[in-house]
Order: sequence, then C-alpha cells, then structure tokens
Amino acid sequence: MKRAVYPGSFDPITFGHLDIIERSAKMVDELVIAVLCNSAKNSLFSLEERVNMIKEITKDIPNVKVETFDGLLVDYMRQIDANIIIRGLRAVTDFEYELQIAQMNHVLKDDAETIFLITNLKYSYLSSTVVKEIASYGGDISKFVPEEIIDRIYEKYNVNRENTYEQ
Ligand code: PNS
Repeated sequence: MKRAVYPGSFDPITFGHLDIIERSAKMVDELVIAVLCNSAKNSLFSLEERVNMIKEITKDIPNVKVETFDGLLVDYMRQIDANIIIRGLRAVTDFEYELQIAQMNHVLKDDAETIFLITNLKYSYLSSTVVKEIASYGGDISKFVPEEIIDRIYEKYNVNRENTYEQ
C-alpha cells in the first residue's frame, strides 16, 4: 500500500491545496492530509474547523483521509506507516525552505521521500495568507477558495458577503 502524507496548516484550504490533493491522490493508494496542530502559530481557524472544511471539500475523493498531527512529521509518518511526503511548489521563493525541510525529514527518517508537485500556474500566486488578507478587507475571495467555505472565512472578519466587492 503506497501511503502518502500531505502536511500543512491549511488555514484555510485554498484551490491551490485542492489542486495538489487531486493530483497527488491519483499517484498513491492513500493520501492522508495531515493538518498541523500548530498551537504556537496564530491560526484563524481552529484545528477542528480546518479539518471539517477539508473533509467537506474532499469528500468525493475516495482515497483521501484527513487527520491531525502534532510534533515531528516523521514521527507521525512512522505511526501511520507512510514514507511519501507531498508538497506543492509555487515559485523559486518556496524552494529554499522546502528543500531544507525535505532534507531534514530525510535525515530524520531515511526512507522518507518528498515529492514536489509544481503548482498549477493559475494558482501560483495563491496562499492562505493572501486569502485572509483579502477577506479581511472585504475583497472577493471566490476565485481562491471553494464556495463551501467562503462564508466561514468572512465570518471570522465580521464581513458581510453582500457588501464584498468583485475584483
Ligand atoms: O502549510 P505549511 O505551514 O507551510 O506547512 C508546514 C509543515 C506543517 C509541513 C511543517 O511545518 C511541518 O512539517 N511541521 C511539523 C514539524 C516538523 O516535522 N518539521 C520538519 C523538520 S525541520
């Protein structure tokens, strides 16, 4: 059984993440989306909210599971018996950080292989951080995140969707 993990904060999940999930799920038997319990990071959504959003959005992809992890990714991978890590690469600016983490994970678990998927060009500018920024100012986020979660993002900023403007 080829099991891969796609780790991240997913605060919130975007179309960029979803694209990576759909493409990588085709490459493996099981894809575990591993949501980091990052208590140190100030996340907009609670862990439970992030997991529920991802579950709703990926419910039609049969070989995807959504779980949470704390601590080192490699320890979590040992627990679930996975040795493939999926990460998306948007631009050269992602590369240095991603390379360091991939190499560190490989040292910590010598059968851990990171597979980088090049983000679809149409999402190469996209990040959860910019989505939050735009939503906080009442901008239109419908091109960046699935419909199911748009209201939940605006609610966090007390933005009424009817008052948002098209980009
Ligand atoms: O979506 P993000 O915030 O870019 O994801 C980063 C993530 C979760 C992949 C990374 O921070 C991580 O794996 N954290 C867990 C701790 C760990 O194992 N770090 C890597 C060894 S340096």
